[in-house]
Amino acid sequence: MALRIDVLTLFPRMLDGVLAESILGKGIAAGHLAVGVHDLRNWTTDKHRTADDRPFGGGAGMVLKPEPVFAAIEQVQTPGCRRIYLTPDGQPFSTALAEELSRERHLVMLSGHYEGIDQRIRDRVIDQEISIGDYVLTNGTLAAAVVIDALARFIPGVLGEEKSLTHESFTRKLLDFPQYTRPAEFRGMSVPGVLLSGNHAEIEKWRLARQEEKTRLVRPDLLK
Ligand code: ADE
Repeated sequence: MALRIDVLTLFPRMLDGVLAESILGKGIAAGHLAVGVHDLRNWTTDKHRTADDRPFGGGAGMVLKPEPVFAAIEQVQTPGCRRIYLTPDGQPFSTALAEELSRERHLVMLSGHYEGIDQRIRDRVIDQEISIGDYVLTNGTLAAAVVIDALARFIPGVLGEEKSLTHESFTRKLLDFPQYTRPAEFRGMSVPGVLLSGNHAEIEKWRLARQEEKTRLVRPDLLK
């Protein structure tokens, strides 16, 4: 059965383009995964559709209220699903976590906003908190998009060629080698001769050397 993902957000339209375009759009169209996007305001009960309120104890910003979030999660969740909250104070996202999530049957992703969400949501209806990096977005919807995009690549059939996954950065904990395409000569810049040589053993050697060089320069932490 294909993976199902339900995203709960105050900004559902932020995902329109992301889910419609490119490889993700094709993967959804082909039925490799199904994504439902839900406006949290649909679970508010007052006439102003209020989803947030001022923090107890004072301070700046607004806090997502528990009632609409509990109601939304209780409606979309299924037995055994994994309920994820996107937040900068969550567990760092990684290739390993993307692959793990791609093997689930149902994910519920909650996007927070502004100063955060009522702690009781995190205590009771969230299984895992994930951060996509050490910076703060205005809300978690783009983070949910990043997680969905990264995990979709591990769902069989989503990427055309099996090969494109194995050759890449992070499967071997090395950054990618430089790629070139035609023309072989462009504005006085030529493609490294070895790539035109047809000698596959030499090409492999050259590529690995470039990967190690780049990794040492940009991400020495990966070599430890
Ligand atoms: N929401 C705001 N910033 C975030 C981040 N870095 N990762 C995940 N969710 C977020």
